[in-house]
Amino acid sequence: MNEGYLGEDYIVIKALENGVTIIGLTRGMDTKFHHTEKLDRGEILVVQFTEHTSAMKIRGNAEIIHRYGTTMSEGIKRQ
Ligand code: TRP
Repeated sequence: MNEGYLGEDYIVIKALENGVTIIGLTRGMDTKFHHTEKLDRGEILVVQFTEHTSAMKIRGNAEIIHRYGTTMSEGIKRQ
């Protein structure tokens, strides 16, 4: 199904708070949300881009480890 993508890098997403949301966006002319994953603090998701997913949106405080280094996402502070 995702033959061409199996050798690609993985991305590690570590939630730094409860309720971090990872949204998969579809590959191709249309850009739609097709999958949502919720992580609680300390949980890790290991992901790859595939023929179905060409972009991801990460909402909340998370550490994103990828081939270019480590990026922190920051959510809007909740009161
Ligand atoms: N459907 C778009 C595509 O495959 C998804 C996408 C990739 C995208 N990169 C993006 C949407 C950057 C907005 C911005 O190209």
